[in-house]
This record gives sequence, C-alpha cells and structure tokens, in this order.
Amino acid sequence: MAKVKSKWICQNCGYETAGYLGKCPECGSWGSFAEEVQTSLKPQAITPQGFLNDAKPSLLSDIKIGEEVRISTNISEFDRILGGGLVEGSLVLIAGDPGIGKSTILLQTSGELCKNNKKVLYVSAEESASQVKLRAERLDINSNSLYIYPQINMESIRCEIDALNPDIVVVDSIQAIYSGTITSSAGSVSQIRECCNILMQIAKNKNITIIVIGHVTKDGSIAGPKVLEHMVDTVIYFEGDKYKSYRILRAMKNRFGNTSEVGIFEMGSKGLSCVTNPNELFLNERSQGSIPGTAIVVTNEGTRPLLVEIQALVGTTPYPTPRRVTNGVDTSRLLQILAVLEKRIGLNLSKQDVYVNVMGGIEVDEPSADLGIALAVATCARDVVVDSQTVIIGEIGLSGEIHPVQNIEKRLNEAVLSGFKKAIIPYANRVENDKIEIIRVKRLIDAISACVSGQ
Ligand SMILES: Nc1ncnc2c1ncn2[C@@H]1O[C@H](COP(=O)(O)OP(=O)(O)OP(=O)(O)O)[C@@H](O)[C@H]1O
Ligand SMILES: [Mg+2]
Ligand SMILES: [Zn+2]
Repeated sequence: MAKVKSKWICQNCGYETAGYLGKCPECGSWGSFAEEVQTSLKPQAITPQGFLNDAKPSLLSDIKIGEEVRISTNISEFDRILGGGLVEGSLVLIAGDPGIGKSTILLQTSGELCKNNKKVLYVSAEESASQVKLRAERLDINSNSLYIYPQINMESIRCEIDALNPDIVVVDSIQAIYSGTITSSAGSVSQIRECCNILMQIAKNKNITIIVIGHVTKDGSIAGPKVLEHMVDTVIYFEGDKYKSYRILRAMKNRFGNTSEVGIFEMGSKGLSCVTNPNELFLNERSQGSIPGTAIVVTNEGTRPLLVEIQALVGTTPYPTPRRVTNGVDTSRLLQILAVLEKRIGLNLSKQDVYVNVMGGIEVDEPSADLGIALAVATCARDVVVDSQTVIIGEIGLSGEIHPVQNIEKRLNEAVLSGFKKAIIPYANRVENDKIEIIRVKRLIDAISACVSGQ
C-alpha cells in the first residue's frame, strides 16, 4: 500500500513544508498554508513530444526540426495571440475572472475547430451537459464531432481521451477536476499540479492539444500554484470589464509565439465576436468635445497601437490624507507622475484628491502614457482643456524630461487613421508625418504650454 503522508502547502505559490507556517518564506503571503494529505505514488515522468528516454547529447547543427503543426481556430484574434493557431500537442491555459466568458469562447472555439474536421472533447467539470447544450444552442454551435463530457475525475477523463482519441481536449476548469491518486480536495495546489501533470503527459505523449480553463483569484493571479504557469506551454489571460461588452485576450507566456499581442472581442448574445478596429470601439465612448482632465494616449499593444482616453479628476480633499485612486493605471506610476508635476511644474496637489481612469476598462501599463496622464491631471487642476483632436505620447523622467518611445511611426499612423489632427510627442523621436501636426517637446512644461496655448 502506498504510504500516506501529509504536507503543508502554500496555496499561493506551492511552497511545501512539513509543518504549519504563518508566513510563506517563498512568496511572503500570510496564512496561506493548508494541509494536504498525499499518497506517495511516484509521479510518472513526462516525456514531451520528441523526447527519448535514452536520448544522448547531439550537436545543435545536427538537430533536425520537425514541422510545427498549427491548427487554426478560425477566430482571427485568437489565432493571432496564439502566434498563428493552436500548436499540436501543446497545453494552453486560459485564465480569467468568473463570468468573463471563458466557457463561451472555448465552446465557440470548439465549434470552429469541428468545422475544420477536428474531433473535440469538451470536458465540462462545472456545468451539466444540458447547460452546455443550452449555451451551444444560443451560440449556434451545431457539430457532430464535438463531444461534451461532464466529468470531474481525472482518471475517467484520461480513459475517455484514450477511447475517443480526439484532436483537441478542452478542460473546463482545472480547479474543478481531481485525481484519485491524491486525497486532497479539488482545487488544492496538489490536485491542480497533479492534474496538470497528467494533462501534460497526455498532450505530449498522444500529441493532443489541450486547452485548460483556470480561475483567477481576487488579486488577479491564477488560483493555484505558480508552477501551473511554468508547466503549460501557453498562458492566456482573459480580461475585460464584466459590465462592458468588450473582452481582451492577452498572452502572458507563449512557447510558440510572442507575448505582446492582444486579441479584442465583443460579447453579445451570440457569444464573442472579433473586433477588427478596436480604436473605434474605445473612442466612441469618448466624451464629445474637449473637457478639462481628458487626454488621448496611444499605447502599444503588441503589433497594434491602441488609442485610449485617460480621464482625471482633481478636487479638494475632505480627508486628512488626499486620495489617489486609479483604474487601469498603476498607482505607483501615478504617484511618481504627481511628484514630478508638483516638483517641476509647481502644481500643488497635497490637498487634492486625484482620480485617474482609463476608459474602456483596459489596463495601460506602458510608460508612453505618462505624458497623457500628467496632462489629464494638470489640465483638470488648472481647468484648461487638451484639444480633443490631439494625441499625447511620451514617457516622463523624474526631472520632468520627456523620454522617447518606440514605434512612434505606427502610433502616429493609427492616430491619423482615427482622425486626429495633432500629436504631442517626445523631442528625441525624430519623425515626419505630413498628415498630422507634430509638436516635439523636451520637457513636461513644454508639453503643458503646447496644450494650453491658444486658449
Ligand atoms: N443569454 C445571454 N445573452 C447574452 N449574453 C449572455 C447570455 N448568457 C450569458 N451571457 C454572457 O456570458 C457570460 C458568461 O459566460 P461564461 O459562462 O462563458 O463565463 P465563464 O468565464 O465561463 O464563467 P465561470 O467563471 O462562471 O465559468 C455572462 O457574463 C454574460 O455576459
Ligand atoms: Mg465557465
Ligand atoms: Zn507562498
């Protein structure tokens, strides 16, 4: 009989100890340890595709590359972030908030894959077959090579995969399935790790593409150990504002493509549809005319520049310490920009609350948005406006200097396409474009004067 032993495992990062610990020495989180009883069954070795147990070192120049087979999902935005389609025999993790549409997009993808003559097994561990059928009817998915399998036991899933031999397997979700070889409950770190391990073996040994859904915890990371992200080939985050219709797919890690791409979708009653011109979507929400405290920035999402509106609100605080609230922008980034505004421009914000919001529910984490954020705050505080036909591009340094940004030509072209007439850009970005008026600025103060001149 297998020996039974118990371990304490950090549910945040997967760190293991023999006894309880209050604080995790690995990731620093408190109270994250849970006891998990485990049978010491030897984990089977994973033999990834093309691996031989008796492999010998060989010269790089002698190695022959097998052709990487890509399966198109027929969903252009999804294919793009995957780097041109699903790679055969890969394990893909899709993570997102509850209700964001993970099951929807994967059911749609399954339907599309069936159209390409692929056999798909959809393992539904959270919903009954009839619930999935209802969704499929709503999404108009009708296929005779799509199998729905309501099951939570990993061993049964493995048997069915062996029996059915599908091309693609979808597991909805990794937190809901469990393996009988481990006694801890479904969703615990050991279970997630074990099940992911088994799925990885199946994917590599049988050359089946497996897509796994993962839930996200409150702080935005995938529930379960970080090892999950290390084990899979591709990690895709499904983001978006639940109360708005658009959704963004973003590759966090991809062993078969770059991770700078994003895919943009719109959620409707017929499911998710690709958005080919996102700027229209993000800007049509825009406030009409110029109002103080708004600025349009051009961020770079993968190969595609996105125009987004930054809104700021500055007002006298009723609190002893003024509030700094951000939505879509990193708070520490805002604090740094505010510090520069105070020190270099003399804008006194010590008694003011500052709110900054990125319209469209998207995250702007690129430094090129600094100048736009600074101008939104400064114009709101001084009650002047940034001309609504102007885009703002530039990174701000601590002494108030404006640093150049990458891909300036592409950003400007996108602004031209969306009908903007003027661009404020870093001085060091020497670029010409006769379709848009370009103002190159060296310092923050110059950008502010450029904005408010003529008012
Ligand atoms: N009848 C409907 N018409 C339009 N949209 C719907 C309808 N039913 C559901 N939706 C949309 O689908 C979303 C739920 O999608 P889905 O079940 O795919 O999400 P999920 O990420 O799998 O959720 P969970 O975390 O619960 O598994 C809802 O938030 C809603 O926006
Ligand atoms: Mg779901
Ligand atoms: Zn930890």
